[in-house]
Amino acid sequence: MRVTSCTDTFTLSNGTTIPCIGYGTFETPANEARTAVREALETGYRHIDTAAVYGNQEAVGAGIRDSGIPRDQLFVTSKLWNTERGYENTLKACEQTLNELGVDYLDLYLIHWPTNRKQFGDRAQELNAETWRAFEELYKSGRVKAIGLSNFLPHHIESLIPSAAITPMVDQLEVHPGWPQTAAVKYCQDHGIQVEAWGPFGHKDVLTNQTLVSIGGKYGKSSAQVCVRWALQHDVLPLPKSVHMSRMRSNIDVFDFELTDEDMQVIDELRGIGGTCSDPDAVDF
Ligand SMILES: NC(=O)c1ccc[n+]([C@@H]2O[C@H](COP(=O)([O-])OP(=O)(O)OC[C@H]3O[C@@H](n4cnc5c(N)ncnc54)[C@H](OP(=O)(O)O)[C@@H]3O)[C@@H](O)[C@H]2O)c1
Repeated sequence: MRVTSCTDTFTLSNGTTIPCIGYGTFETPANEARTAVREALETGYRHIDTAAVYGNQEAVGAGIRDSGIPRDQLFVTSKLWNTERGYENTLKACEQTLNELGVDYLDLYLIHWPTNRKQFGDRAQELNAETWRAFEELYKSGRVKAIGLSNFLPHHIESLIPSAAITPMVDQLEVHPGWPQTAAVKYCQDHGIQVEAWGPFGHKDVLTNQTLVSIGGKYGKSSAQVCVRWALQHDVLPLPKSVHMSRMRSNIDVFDFELTDEDMQVIDELRGIGGTCSDPDAVDF
């Protein structure tokens, strides 16, 4: 791990650089997101993660503008929601997202969830392929600077690759202590796909885990800081969310300590300590 601040970057397979910690905005209500995003940017974040389904893109865009930080110094990610899959729908949905955010381009656009056979039967694979074809078009047109996936497990990616002209650059997965998704992370890393960790605190559930608290104690760090550091030491890009400025600040104050190999192994072996641990093949949304 080479990064030494939250503005240091990982490099995606197409050469795009991406700040190594992103600021999450899931469940931040529209009436709080404007202030929260501005404060996150004031705190030092330069990478914002949002999605059409969060219902806060206009406020996120307003917060970005309020910050006064030039667009080219920011990294903005959004995601295509499940109801908008397919070639034409995807192109329209991306335009709507750009309009809501008030930006000319996205730095990264993700398919939020793979289709699954449970909902789509034999059409699942074809629908992912059609959606991805639109992503490739958006990438070629410059409306999005990088394209990727979210919640795609290795078998979903393997099904997509034969029909894809461009290999996905990112996979955003639920990854946190207790749910390390070791096989999926390894698959992505072996194939040059940057993994991002959503729910790096297991949606806050894992923060009370005594193993994490006590490992943090050795370094004068909180369990939240241990979670962020653990992801980074796996070359996984964490997306912590908080609407509180003191927490925004402490969640990126993770560059003055290093978890030992033994700490990493202990954390890797934790199980069942929280988070949604959702199975993309079982979801019905
Ligand atoms: N691709 C996907 O399917 C997907 C799914 C879920 C999330 N995401 C992305 O990943 C981001 C992060 O995931 P998440 O929002 O679900 O959960 P998370 O970041 O794991 O946890 C957020 C929760 O932890 C609390 N928290 C944050 N920092 C804390 C600290 N230092 N001490 C104590 N509590 C703290 C927050 O409360 P306060 O806000 O009150 O501080 C909030 O309740 C999202 O915001 C979103 O951008 C993506």
